[in-house]
Amino acid sequence: QPHENENVVWHNHQTDKAHRAQLKNQSPCVLWFTGLSGAGKSTVAGALENRLAEQGFHTYLLDGDNVRHGLCKDLGFSAEDRKENIRRIGEVAKLMADAGLIVLTAFISPHRAERQLVRELLPEGEFIEVFVDTPLAECEKRDPKGLYKKARAGEIKDFTGIDSEYQPPANPEIHLQAGNASVDELVTLCVEALKQRHII
Ligand code: PPS
Repeated sequence: QPHENENVVWHNHQTDKAHRAQLKNQSPCVLWFTGLSGAGKSTVAGALENRLAEQGFHTYLLDGDNVRHGLCKDLGFSAEDRKENIRRIGEVAKLMADAGLIVLTAFISPHRAERQLVRELLPEGEFIEVFVDTPLAECEKRDPKGLYKKARAGEIKDFTGIDSEYQPPANPEIHLQAGNASVDELVTLCVEALKQRHII
């Protein structure tokens, strides 16, 4: 039905997910980094984001420590709170993928069931699990925030790998043996995997 002012015309929006993605010549997805504290999730995800941005891709990185300052600042590290943490991040990542972005997330996300829930939120093929597989001994040696030391001293409870379980992915899309490799090498492996999957 025409508007009473002939200069006001109806606009059929054609900008949907596929269109937004096409603008950037990229296929939206969620690159879900998982691994122990200190494994290198944020470092590798951040470096991968830089590499993709250099090539003109449109990305967004959701990072554990940062999200816990805002979206999830009411949550702690009990099993229940970690579950809610991952649920919220999954929903946000889904919205961002719908906006056409390549989303990178860096959370310990220690439980298989929660990662599976996020996988099921997304269309087939859009959840790409990246296992940053750094042995606990190496993470503990690095101990960049001194948290393992505190956990061993009993000053932090429920610390992943010490007194809270980490369940490694059984079948990750990308498996990074991250203990000895350089960040650059790991980023290149991710880029190759994304090309193979026609994400970029
Ligand atoms: S989770 O399990 O996915 O909800 O955790 P995440 O949101 O990724 O937060 C992990 C970061 O919080 C710090 N931290 C702890 N990690 C594990 N266990 C306990 N109890 C804990 N307390 C604080 C720690 O710095 C984690 O950062 P990363 O970057 O993983 O080292």
